Amino acid sequence: MALLEIAGVSKSFGGVAANVDISFEVAEGEILGLIGPNGAGKTSLFNSIAGEVTPDSGEIRLDGIRVSGLGPVECAARGIARTFQVVRSFDSMTVLENVMVGAFARTAHAREAMREATETLDFCGLRGRADRPAWSLSPPEKRRLEVARALATHPRVLLLDEMLTGLTPTEAQEGVQLVRDVQRRGITIIMVEHVMEIVLPLVSRAVVLNLGRVLTIGQPAEIVRNPEVIRAYLGDRYAAA
Ligand SMILES: Nc1ncnc2c1ncn2[C@@H]1O[C@H](COP(=O)(O)OP(=O)(O)O)[C@@H](O)[C@H]1O
Ligand SMILES: [Mg+2]
Repeated sequence: MALLEIAGVSKSFGGVAANVDISFEVAEGEILGLIGPNGAGKTSLFNSIAGEVTPDSGEIRLDGIRVSGLGPVECAARGIARTFQVVRSFDSMTVLENVMVGAFARTAHAREAMREATETLDFCGLRGRADRPAWSLSPPEKRRLEVARALATHPRVLLLDEMLTGLTPTEAQEGVQLVRDVQRRGITIIMVEHVMEIVLPLVSRAVVLNLGRVLTIGQPAEIVRNPEVIRAYLGDRYAAA
């Protein structure tokens, strides 16, 4: 059985159909890419998976149990964590305190949360930043802080929303390494990313969204050759040679 099932999920905002009848499955341990043009509905789907939004119809199941509509706190408790496209760290708090906020999803004890947060900062390459205010971090460090805060909740599934967007190629490669390290911990990942050179080598499969719908699902080699994907998203430079 798949770890995560998206089953016929639709969500509209006013007249805008952000997600229309979206269905796919994510296997345990997989890195799945979620790609498509701006406005395709990627972040909206993350909002439904993370419990921030309730789909109008359809269901999201973790281990066969419905999680859609349970709200973000319960979804986090069941093992779904996400990063935000627009970084949401608490600027005036220290880096360590930000990650402790994540850790408090698992424990009520400050000492335990601090231990967990410290270990997670180590893992994310932010060891030397623990006592700095979050606002003082560089852009790539802020992205790592987002990941650290999500990881501190001990997720089974991690949703990464444009974690590498806007980084230099070197910073992005360091981010890729972090994603691989997270997978090695046994965490299942769905990542939204625009730079295909980065995302395609990393994922086992990609789901392509366009205008709120699934355009296709496939392995990277199939995706880059799909004429509909090229037309809707990739453009000519990915046309098969
Ligand atoms: N809370 C909301 N209220 C109104 N419209 C929304 C809301 N969230 C998303 N949308 C709309 O849904 C569509 C999909 O947006 P989004 O999921 O952010 O796309 P993506 O992340 O793929 O760029 C867009 O047209 C967006 O304006
Ligand atoms: Mg988005």
